[in-house]
Amino acid sequence: MKDLSITVNGIHFDNPFLLGSGPPGTNARVIGKAFKAGWGGVVAKTTSLSDTEVINVVPRYGKLKSASGDVIGFQNIELISDRPFEDWEEDFKSLKKEFPNKVVIASIMECFDKARWQELARRCEATGVDGLELNFSCPHGHPERGMGAAMGQDPAQVQEVTSWVREAVTTPIWAKMTPNITDITAPSAAAIRGGAHGVSAINTILSIIGIDLKTLRPQPTVEGHSVPGGYSALGAKPIGLRMVQEIARALKDFPISGMGGVMTSRDAIEFFLVGSSTVQVCTGAMLQGLGMIDELKEGLSSFMEQHDFNSVSEIVGKSLPYFTTHHDLVERQADAKALKLSSRASRDKSWGEESLQAQTTKMTSNE
Ligand SMILES: Cc1cc2nc3c(=O)[nH]c(=O)nc-3n(C[C@H](O)[C@H](O)[C@H](O)COP(=O)(O)O)c2cc1C
Repeated sequence: MKDLSITVNGIHFDNPFLLGSGPPGTNARVIGKAFKAGWGGVVAKTTSLSDTEVINVVPRYGKLKSASGDVIGFQNIELISDRPFEDWEEDFKSLKKEFPNKVVIASIMECFDKARWQELARRCEATGVDGLELNFSCPHGHPERGMGAAMGQDPAQVQEVTSWVREAVTTPIWAKMTPNITDITAPSAAAIRGGAHGVSAINTILSIIGIDLKTLRPQPTVEGHSVPGGYSALGAKPIGLRMVQEIARALKDFPISGMGGVMTSRDAIEFFLVGSSTVQVCTGAMLQGLGMIDELKEGLSSFMEQHDFNSVSEIVGKSLPYFTTHHDLVERQADAKALKLSSRASRDKSWGEESLQAQTTKMTSNE
């Protein structure tokens, strides 16, 4: 097995795979299981100060299946953690004590209030967590109260909130971006201006997973009603890759923790290639279990062997130079075509396809 370690913002990951914020990181028990299974780190389920109201509904998930029954997309209308923040403080402390070499990142979200963000950030830092992920991206529920994606869609708020947190703590800060925006590079750049050390992307994409054709009710159906929710799993990957690529090209030297639809090592490697230094997995683990980490690590290691890469950081952004504009594609194709024609014309076999004078002219350097 190749060395899969990477250091990002001074945080050492024994491998670059993290569980993304969500059900796989809802408490110390499940996070502990993830570390024992071999994950490099966990971004815990988003937490806020205890007086923030969080009331979840059931059912809150919906699946999109292909004709053969495979789950290709997933939707949730889940809120952030409904556990009191004091419980999280205990969890963070005990996790860092039991797994000092594993990375624990606290995900935090609050309303537009400096004192509350700073208190939350300081109290997390005091538990010894390795980093903070600022949730500017929760797509449903909290945006109705100006939090999550509502904040993430406003670069000025992203910058200001990030600067409050940066002022309060020295722990590395990643700002998590919403894909529900026209230009994801605007809030990403705003977070960096506010003092973030890196960016995580993407959260879920606003969606309606389906309508029940018998009852005409949207799904997931709660008391006969529903609300658009967040789309994730494989179907979200092309959008995640596109947005991570955009951020990577815009921010250049700032690390990205990429995610969206990672089910296998192949998906994860694609995220590294478009500029992610670490890769997060949420729905993939919900559908396949924590044991999927074995395939992620083995697949990454054999990819590195195949291409003779010696470290994960060598892969990061390796495919970025191959993205360009459509205009440039047209020019490249015209050039390639001309080259093909001229090289064909230069072969002895081709004499006679055109007039002798025309072929002579093509091969003359000083016409
Ligand atoms: C059920 C569920 C709950 C989630 N809860 C959170 C959350 O509390 N905070 C957060 O930042 N992202 C949350 N997410 C988003 C994921 O962390 C991730 O950004 C998104 O699902 C895309 O990655 P995936 O396709 O690997 O799941 C949640 C996703 C799911 C499916």
